[in-house]
Amino acid sequence: MPPSSVTSGSWRSRDAAAVWHPFTQHASWLDDKPLVIDRADGPWLFDSDGVRYLDGVSSLWVTTFGHRVPELDAAVRDQLAKAAHSTFLGATHAPGIELAEQLLSVAPRDAESVSELAKVFYAGDGSSAVEAALKMAYQYGAQSGHNRPLFVHLSQAYHGDTLGAVSVGGIELFHATYRPILLRALTTGSPGVRAPGQSPQARAVEAIDELSALMAERGSEVCTIIVEPMIQGAAGMLTYDAAYLRACRRLADEYGALLICDEVAAGIGRTGRMWACEHAGIVPDLLICGKGLTGGYLPLSAVLATQAVYDAFLGPASENRTFFHGHTYTANPLSCAAALANLRLMAERNLVGQAAQLGERLGTLLAPLGSHPSVVEVRRLGTMTGIELRSVTERTGFAVCQAAQARGVLLRPLGDVVILMPPLALAQAETELLANAVIAAINDVT
Ligand SMILES: Cc1ncc(COP(=O)(O)O)c(C=O)c1O
Repeated sequence: MPPSSVTSGSWRSRDAAAVWHPFTQHASWLDDKPLVIDRADGPWLFDSDGVRYLDGVSSLWVTTFGHRVPELDAAVRDQLAKAAHSTFLGATHAPGIELAEQLLSVAPRDAESVSELAKVFYAGDGSSAVEAALKMAYQYGAQSGHNRPLFVHLSQAYHGDTLGAVSVGGIELFHATYRPILLRALTTGSPGVRAPGQSPQARAVEAIDELSALMAERGSEVCTIIVEPMIQGAAGMLTYDAAYLRACRRLADEYGALLICDEVAAGIGRTGRMWACEHAGIVPDLLICGKGLTGGYLPLSAVLATQAVYDAFLGPASENRTFFHGHTYTANPLSCAAALANLRLMAERNLVGQAAQLGERLGTLLAPLGSHPSVVEVRRLGTMTGIELRSVTERTGFAVCQAAQARGVLLRPLGDVVILMPPLALAQAETELLANAVIAAINDVT
């Protein structure tokens, strides 16, 4: 029996009285009647009134198989019966070790099928892994005898909300406020921002020229080039040509900087490959993953580092080469157990192959939007999809998501871009429901 409809309303009032939500303007929070989620199953979310919604954005880009996956539930329960937490500082545990081994076994390989990534450093969320990677890159330079205080990033970049991550961010709305208190960073033009009619290849050539010029001028001061490989998610799924990523690899090598690929959003199968950098056949010096790592169960992120980077941190304690960085809950065993079960099940069921097929299916179903008068562009890499709308009201993207919600599909916009980021194991019928609902919602609003 669904609870009475009073339930959601009363939870909302209690929420408004006690809670401060992320990325939320609370002056109008209750106007939008936020859903109160009570439970979930597979690709479905149920609100506290018992109404069912398709989870079209994988609960903010995290679920892989969906919710309440028996194998993942069991892995967390089994670990819970042993220990919910023990520290990773000065001690270790089996789930942390086995997960590191599993991650390295699926790490990206270069054209010669060599994976240079050899060590795993754990963090909690995507942003905290970005912080760790930025500090590693700076310290690596310093310990190699170079003063390299500059971080190169793309315009439109999003790497999280902690101050290091904001320093290498390029989304004005989120980042401009904090500029006076940030690290020293250099911005280079995004290869994903194209002039009308410009091809991705032509834009990549321009963007490579700009990055080459920047590195020629300042390369000796740069400790890292950080990128979201192949697709800038939070900017509205801006896809770009693989040649750009290969140029980043080449220029980082040429000027002695590290290349960081932030795969927090695009990694773990979302683009139809395990890692987005595989589309370009390159391996970064530092690879960051998070979000889907635990299948959407618990917070956990990681930085995968090459042996060369790791080795630069070795030495007698008196030399202070230690990476003095970590968190209370680093490598929480419950999170590690969930991630290990997720990665094993992904391999067993070829979930990355399924994701590639899901992406193709979505592409076919959304094809009619290509000529829709209210749609500027549909951008997609694998399952990561952004539908950019022409503005017809103050919050067009939001209005379309509200219309989709009325049709039983939960989506979340980024400005006027409607994002689709379904669970990788989404079945055919639900994929059709998702695509049909978003097309109908766009028609409802525009
Ligand atoms: C590419 C990328 N990096 C980092 C982050 C930050 O991750 P978190 O929100 O887990 O801190 C995000 C979040 O969307 C992201 O898309």
